[in-house]
Amino acid sequence: MFSVVLPCTTSLNKVRELNPKGIILSGGPCSVYDAQAPAADPAVLAMGVPVLGICYGLQFITHHLGGKVVSAPAREYGHAQVTVVAETPLFRGLPRELNVWMSHGDHAHALPEGFTLTAETANAVAGIEDAERRIWAVQFHPEVAHTPQGMELLKNFVVDICGAKADWTPEHFIQTTVERIREQVGDGHAICGLSGGVDSSVAAVLVAKAIGDRLTCIFVNNGVLRKDEFQKVQTTMREQLGLNVVAVDASERFLAKLSGVTDPEKKRKAIGGEFIAVFDDEAKRIFESEKGLSRSGGEEIAWLVQGTLYPDVIESSSVHGPSHTIKSHHNVGGLPADMKLKLIEPLRDLFKDEVRRIGRDLGMPEDIIERQPFPGPGLAVRILGEVTAERVAILQEADQIVVDEIKRAGLYRKVWQSFAVLLPVKSVGVMGDQRTYANTCAIRAVESEDGMTADWAPLPFEVLRTISSRIVSEVRGINRVVYDITSKPPGTIEWE
Ligand code: XMP
Repeated sequence: MFSVVLPCTTSLNKVRELNPKGIILSGGPCSVYDAQAPAADPAVLAMGVPVLGICYGLQFITHHLGGKVVSAPAREYGHAQVTVVAETPLFRGLPRELNVWMSHGDHAHALPEGFTLTAETANAVAGIEDAERRIWAVQFHPEVAHTPQGMELLKNFVVDICGAKADWTPEHFIQTTVERIREQVGDGHAICGLSGGVDSSVAAVLVAKAIGDRLTCIFVNNGVLRKDEFQKVQTTMREQLGLNVVAVDASERFLAKLSGVTDPEKKRKAIGGEFIAVFDDEAKRIFESEKGLSRSGGEEIAWLVQGTLYPDVIESSSVHGPSHTIKSHHNVGGLPADMKLKLIEPLRDLFKDEVRRIGRDLGMPEDIIERQPFPGPGLAVRILGEVTAERVAILQEADQIVVDEIKRAGLYRKVWQSFAVLLPVKSVGVMGDQRTYANTCAIRAVESEDGMTADWAPLPFEVLRTISSRIVSEVRGINRVVYDITSKPPGTIEWE
């Protein structure tokens, strides 16, 4: 099913325009009594479409319809047992006792008029409904994996109560997106920055399906790609995906900008700035040479394809503004400055798992679809201290061993990311009968759903042992390997 995530400050008109079949009011960290409490327009409760409140959503409904929310004597956090106490379409087909995930301080003390209790825990109200007004709410979180039957509950709401149909399929998406792009671009030309990762590749394949060779992809070697990546990505993109690729080896330009830079943010900015400069030069060249070919004969219409995903869209429209800059993420394809490029973002309604499904349906090879994310600033943020050609070469070798061994152990898809980090720390070792004094390499492997939070992965000792002994014996310049056991938060996934 198609759904959109909107901030609670969205106007009633905007909500009406979308003509929703149902509305879910989500959870949040505030109490309804906080000055900062997110407040939706209470009129959404009277639009006549079914509403499901979750956690804070339940409290919002209770508070605004005349019930009472109080601070609970015992805060409920974590696993909880809920007992269903009424027949309700929301719990249809579910057992009377449910294991759920709770996370709340306040709870509903008195229900608004017209509401009945549908579920409870030993301490608090866990579910309520007003079947006449078509409002349902639960205090727990059906959307998290710790509520095993949560998906069934959500399905009951979306399918049975709202009557939504499951017709948001990959085929439907591909067909309508390709048609829309064809119409938008008309006779124009488009360019797309390729990173070799799944998002930009899927975006490019979709656009190429719509406008063929009027799409030119630009793939830049920024000098901090993985081993052999510049060559491999070109081959895959051209031969397997049939894309029209202009490959630019700008590694020397980038390494020159990185020379002497050790501060993480300065590195990111140096790479981001240089990327835009290189991309800009190429884009101008491409559009100049295409101009004469434009079938419209009139004014050139230029498009830039970006692999923006839905989480980026949500992030930029959050109620309290974008979150603090922890790292400046730069993504491929910053808008060339003085060119009037219009944006095509074919993936902006999708989450990562959906992008992968679309890629599969487009017949793209598994090794692209299942690629672990790789940051725009590449190995530069995994080389602590100065980035030099020599240190890049050392890390490329170590990184290759990590990828190989993780794949060999069948763990590549299980972990979100697995990679090596080169530290500016030298230590003493002994190899054969020789004293060594060389670099330390840290191995990082994390499990995550979306990269926003992550746990360090408990890799089997055997895998760690092989990675460590291969790196120390095969990579000149590294004589010690350590394993990073920090989760996010408080750590971040990348070291810089
Ligand atoms: P952190 O290190 O912030 O990373 O925990 C979260 C996820 O984002 C990736 N990452 C980036 N991706 N451009 C990107 O496209 C960037 O500048 C960038 N920095 C970090 C990181 O690999 C992880 O998956």
